[in-house]
Amino acid sequence: MGDQRLLRVAQPVSEFGTPSLAELLKDMRDTMAHLDGAGLAAPQIGVDLRVVIFGGKSNPRYPDAPAVPDTVLINPELAPLSDEEESGWEGCLSVPGLRGWVPRWIQLRYSGMDETGRQFERIVDGFHARVVQHECDHLDGVLYPMRVRDFRRFGFVDELSDVEMP
Ligand code: NI
Repeated sequence: MGDQRLLRVAQPVSEFGTPSLAELLKDMRDTMAHLDGAGLAAPQIGVDLRVVIFGGKSNPRYPDAPAVPDTVLINPELAPLSDEEESGWEGCLSVPGLRGWVPRWIQLRYSGMDETGRQFERIVDGFHARVVQHECDHLDGVLYPMRVRDFRRFGFVDELSDVEMP
């Protein structure tokens, strides 16, 4: 956080199945695995492209979160299926050591391409919907602290223990 590359509106991917895209995805997977992330967006490793990855079965950073399928999502589009929001705790590999209470749409449809350029869409809710919204925000230069409304629920993980944490 503070690196200006995290604040850009990232560029769409126009070529699929290329060695450079494969290399980017490998770098992103390695980074996410190394840091125990639930997801990662290309701008977080300094790459100005609309590429996110997310998923994973058990994650020590989010022990109670349900499994989300391992997904590569490129040039994503998100559409809420209702105005209903739900708040939950989020962290971010670009904002280490902190957590915040962030409102997100409960249910949404997302669409985009996989790494081969095949279009797909999903309707999701709950933690899956939260992760997608968090990662896709990175493509528009938005970090989760910008969405925190109650700053009494934003702070260092080690200090938040007396607030109800999941
Ligand atoms: Ni993040």
